[in-house]
Amino acid sequence: MRKLNNPFIITGYHSPAYFCDRDKELRWLADQIKNERNVVLYSWRRMGKTALIRHFFQRIKNELKIEGVFVDLLGTTSITDANKKIASAIISQLGDLKRGIGQRLIKLMGAVGATLGVDPLSGMPVISFGLNTNQKSVSDSLEAISTFLVDHKKPIVVCIDEFQQIVNYPEGNAEATFRTWAQNYPLIRFIFSGSHREMMISMFNETSRPFYKSAQILQLNELPADQYIKFIIKHFKKAGKKINPENIESIFNWTRLQTYYVQLVCNKLFGKSDDITVEVLDEVYKEIILQEAPLYSSYQQLLTTLQWKLLLALARDEEIENPYSQQFINRHQLGAASSVRRALEMLKEKEFVIHYQQKYFIHDTLLMRWLQQL
Ligand SMILES: Nc1ncnc2c1ncn2[C@@H]1O[C@H](COP(=O)(O)OP(=O)(O)OP(=O)(O)O)[C@@H](O)[C@H]1O
Ligand SMILES: [Mg+2]
Repeated sequence: MRKLNNPFIITGYHSPAYFCDRDKELRWLADQIKNERNVVLYSWRRMGKTALIRHFFQRIKNELKIEGVFVDLLGTTSITDANKKIASAIISQLGDLKRGIGQRLIKLMGAVGATLGVDPLSGMPVISFGLNTNQKSVSDSLEAISTFLVDHKKPIVVCIDEFQQIVNYPEGNAEATFRTWAQNYPLIRFIFSGSHREMMISMFNETSRPFYKSAQILQLNELPADQYIKFIIKHFKKAGKKINPENIESIFNWTRLQTYYVQLVCNKLFGKSDDITVEVLDEVYKEIILQEAPLYSSYQQLLTTLQWKLLLALARDEEIENPYSQQFINRHQLGAASSVRRALEMLKEKEFVIHYQQKYFIHDTLLMRWLQQL
């Protein structure tokens, strides 16, 4: 693999050299998997769930000879969709599409109704599913997948990322279907990962839900500041560049240590200068805000006037314990407390706002910074 020109990655996962810490979480994950427990991993958006899983898979492949399969449910809208994503992930990650995939995978493809074709643009092999021909029922197909996985020579961990997606499937029984699947195949380990904290928690902690108490839960928090500072300084130094700890602290405050934004600021700084000063830092903050402005402006159309005003108020206060207090409502001229309550519920549901440890705050730190400078 080639060395990167910029060590601060802002998309996906590269290799251990560009990955900071998470030792505690990696040990915890390994412990669950070694002891045959399923895992739920959640965090706010962009804290590093996906990167952590990718890094973990790399580790267990080398150290424990366990193979990871990564399924991303983002964008899926039905259980049939999800089933196809799972089947494709398994076929493409456990088989070698270019060199031929072997008898067992061919059999699996037949059982899930998949065919191997060639992408006319790239010439690369692709997996496709016929529209109605040979369409298998979801549970038959999941069963075929499991039989394949159980017979696999190495143990398998399947990570289903963006798992909260299944709550929105119109079929309504997605949770039960997946639960039955996971339960029927105790030899396969699962990591369910997602960013809607409340949805994930209620799925696994409510007595009436199929997944009740069926997995160990890990909340992924911010990276520890002391480790992250060292990581940042190390990479700047290696390239002969200078950045001081005070400026890094400013980055941590500005981004509230939301991993993606720390990476983004560092990535820009690294590309811009060999000696990071407060002026360079301010320039980068402005640049980043400006870059997202078109997207953030479009949010205004998605929200009612009150929701928008409330969002602005939350941005200005950064965090608020009691959004229904007269003091808060009057200061920001929000009107009736009952309307504020409804607006806040909507903002929470749409994942604009988070309620955590008795405080409300805006989920996306950059959105907060953008709103603050309006
Ligand atoms: N420990 C880490 N060290 C260095 N970079 C990291 C680390 N964790 C995450 N990142 C980087 O931060 C960015 C966001 O991480 P990632 O996409 O994994 O977050 P996520 O929680 O899965 O986000 P989403 O909720 O949007 O799915 C990525 O570019 C990733 O490379
Ligand atoms: Mg992710």
